[in-house]
Amino acid sequence: SGNMLWGGRFTGGLDPLMVHYNESIYFDKVLYKQDILGSIAFARANAKNGIISQAEFQKLEQGLLAVQKEWETGTFAIVPGVDEDIHTANERRLGEIIGKDVAGKLHTGRSRNEQIATDMRLWLRDELHAIEEHLRAFLRVIAARAEQEIDVIMPGYTHLQRAQPIRWSHWMLSYGFAFASDLERLGEVIKRVNRSALGCGALAGNPFGIDRDMMAAELGFDGLLWNSMGGVADRDFVAETLQWGSMLMQHISRWAEDLIIYSTGEFGFVRLADAYSTGSSLMPQKKNPDSLELLRGKSGRAFGHMAGFMMTLKGLPSTYNKDLQESVEPMLDHVKTVGDSIQIANGVLATLAIQPDKMQASLDPFMLATDLADYLVRKGVPFRETHHISGRCVALSEQTGTPMNELSYAQLKAIDARFDKDIADVFDYEKSVEMRSAKGGTSKSSVLEQIKVLKAMIG
Ligand code: ARG
Repeated sequence: SGNMLWGGRFTGGLDPLMVHYNESIYFDKVLYKQDILGSIAFARANAKNGIISQAEFQKLEQGLLAVQKEWETGTFAIVPGVDEDIHTANERRLGEIIGKDVAGKLHTGRSRNEQIATDMRLWLRDELHAIEEHLRAFLRVIAARAEQEIDVIMPGYTHLQRAQPIRWSHWMLSYGFAFASDLERLGEVIKRVNRSALGCGALAGNPFGIDRDMMAAELGFDGLLWNSMGGVADRDFVAETLQWGSMLMQHISRWAEDLIIYSTGEFGFVRLADAYSTGSSLMPQKKNPDSLELLRGKSGRAFGHMAGFMMTLKGLPSTYNKDLQESVEPMLDHVKTVGDSIQIANGVLATLAIQPDKMQASLDPFMLATDLADYLVRKGVPFRETHHISGRCVALSEQTGTPMNELSYAQLKAIDARFDKDIADVFDYEKSVEMRSAKGGTSKSSVLEQIKVLKAMIG
C-alpha cells in the first residue's frame, strides 16, 4: 500500500518536486561571475600554501575563465536536476573542461556555505555602488531644480489642508534631505556588506591555513568576517539592505503621492512628461501618472521582502541552515526594484513641467492668518492673544464673504486697535515666505543655504 501511495512519485532518488524545491540555480546563476572570481581567489590561496601546485592552479584558473566565458556568451548549458546551484554547476562544468583530477581539487577545504555568502556579498556590493550613483544623480536633479525654480511659490499643506505659502524648491528639498540621509545610510550598509566570508569553511574554519587576507584583498573586500560560524550564517547584510531599501521606498512613495495629487486637474501644479505617463484604453482624455503609482505600489513589495526575510531569519539555529537560501531571491528582487525606482523617480522629476500660475492661484489669503498674528507679535502683543485676534479676522472674513486681505482698515481696527495702516503689507505671499529666513526655512536665503548643504551631502 506504501507503493500505491508513494510509488508514483519516487524515481529512485529525490522526489522530483523536491529536486525542484531544493534547487537555486535558476536564480543564483546571476552570481556566476562572483562565484568564479571567488573560486580563482580560493585556488590561488591554496596554491600559495602548496595545497595544490602552481600548474594545477593555472589549469583551474584557465578552466574557470572558460566557464565564465560560457555564461557570458549564453552558451552555458544548465543540466536540469543535476546543477543544483551555481557552485555545483560551475564545478561540474569545470570538471568537463579541464578533467576531474584537477577540478576535484578546487573544493579542498571549502564549503558552499562560505561560497554563497561570498558570492552574494560581492554581487550586492557592486549593485549597491551602482544604486549609490543613481541616488546621487537623482539628488543632483533635485538640487539643480531647486536652484532654477527658487522663485516659484506654492501652497504648503498640513493634513492636506492649505497651511502656509512655501517655495516649490522648499518642497523638493524636503524630500532631498530624506534621500540624502538614505545616501548616508547606504554608505554604512555597504561597509558591512563588503566583508569576506571566504576561508570560513562549512562552519569551523579552514584546516589548511588559507590566507584569508590575501583572498579578501584580491576580491576587493574591506575586511573579514571574524568568526567562521558567524561568517557562514550571517545574512544581516541582506536584512540591512532590505531595511535600507524599505526606508528609501517609503520616501519615494510619499514623494510620488504628493506628485500624484499635484498632477490632478483639481491641483494642476505639475504635468508629467509623456515618457512617464500612460493613456486609458477607454477614455481618450486620460493621462495617468502610472510611473508615480508604480513607485508608490512597488514600495509595498520592497517592504514585504524585508518583513518576510526577517521572519525567515528569526528562530534559526546557529550557522548554516538551508533556510538561508531564501535570502537570495528577496535580495535580487529588492535591489532591482530599488535601483529601477530611483532611476524612474529621477526621470519623472527631470522631465516634470511645473505650472507656477496654478500654484499661485491656489494660494489663499487665509494662509496668511499666521502672518497677521505675527504682525501684532512684533508690536509687543503676546502670541496667544494675537492668535485669537487673527482668528476673529478669519471669522469676520468668512461671515462677510470678504477675502481676508480685502477687509477694510476700519474692520480690522474694530477687531483690534493695535492694527496700523502698514497691516496691508502683511497680505503678500512672497513677504510671508521671506519672513521664514531662519536656517531651514522657506525664504530664498534659507533655501539657497539648504541647496549648498545638500550638494555637500551628495559629494
Ligand atoms: N544554494 C545554497 C544557498 O543558497 C548554497 C549553500 C548550500 N550549502 C549547503 N550546505 N547545502 O544557500
